Amino acid sequence: MIMKLVIAADHGGYDIKEAIKAALTADGHEVLDLGTDNGTDSVDYPAFAKALCAVITEGKATLGILCCGTGIGMSMAANKQKGIRAAVLSDEYSARLTRNHNNANVLCLGGRVVDNEKAVLLARTFVGAEFEGGRHQRRIDMLEA
Ligand code: RB5
Repeated sequence: MIMKLVIAADHGGYDIKEAIKAALTADGHEVLDLGTDNGTDSVDYPAFAKALCAVITEGKATLGILCCGTGIGMSMAANKQKGIRAAVLSDEYSARLTRNHNNANVLCLGGRVVDNEKAVLLARTFVGAEFEGGRHQRRIDMLEA
């Protein structure tokens, strides 16, 4: 299914952001890029996380991808925003299950943890997986309460 996506990175995640954006755009998705626009100038990941989360909570994109050095800072920042369920991961199983079970709406990846190829694989897996609902919805409701 073609989706509206939003992506952002700090300098540590810039390279994988570019690789993911190119791949998902080639797949036919609409990808809004909030920056940063190079991997050399140091920028602050919380600002990028907050901006991306606003795009999701305002309904302007369905899923988001945040990239920093480890993915950890981005996930911490994103999970402070109401309505955001961000998952930091580096394996394909988790990328699928966090959509299936957690209904994660933001994927966080580390450019110093995964290479471009792995990052693209994880992003495609995340975007292609669906929430299963059922008993998992009850748990999401508890998270949101
Ligand atoms: C920036 O050096 C680095 O701290 C950041 O990209 C990220 O890894 C934080 O979690």
